Amino acid sequence: MKIAYIVGSLASQSLNRGLAKALASLAPEGVEFVELPIADLPLYNRDYDGHWPEVATRFKQGILDADGVLLITPEHNRMYSAALANALEWSSRPWGTAALVGKPVAIAGVSPSQLGTALAQSHLRGPLNFFGADLMEQPELYLNATQAGVTADGDVAEESRDYLAGFVEAFVERIRTGQ
Ligand SMILES: Cc1cc2nc3c(=O)[nH]c(=O)nc-3n(C[C@H](O)[C@H](O)[C@H](O)COP(=O)(O)O)c2cc1C
Repeated sequence: MKIAYIVGSLASQSLNRGLAKALASLAPEGVEFVELPIADLPLYNRDYDGHWPEVATRFKQGILDADGVLLITPEHNRMYSAALANALEWSSRPWGTAALVGKPVAIAGVSPSQLGTALAQSHLRGPLNFFGADLMEQPELYLNATQAGVTADGDVAEESRDYLAGFVEAFVERIRTGQ
């Protein structure tokens, strides 16, 4: 099983990429986590349709090829990041070909504040429902970086590991069983 993950941060020392690494390290046997990079995607506009840059074609194909997609979002001004919004635009165009339609999707995130990306994730559910993604509503995974011991290197506190592992397990099960 292949789970593609998208990290909505462009920061070199991203806590959210650290969280992605921690989740990937907890993947059960036979489950592969692959990052779909978004840093080199240009800002989408519809003039690209008909002659997409290679980086965008590869990105969208990566979604189509995956059994499930994990979106790991930072919270920027109580929203998911502009980088992630741009990636979602590429995934959804041209009209009628949105790559996330029917795709099992889970969302997660970490921030240094107590909000833990809860507000960003709440916003993210809107477009995912619009796309008709098969969104995992529960369990949710939002973390305060200090409490959960999440670092950009992918470390996580021992006490948080079960929570993270349970999230990965639930997503894998959902992809396997369709519920
Ligand atoms: C433009 C901007 C807006 C931010 N707004 C929020 C916010 O609304 N809530 C929050 O918890 N953190 C906010 N932060 C702090 C981020 O959570 C923090 O920078 C975090 O490390 C971002 O994730 P990353 O390390 O994966 O890039 C903001 C950071 C930036 C750069």
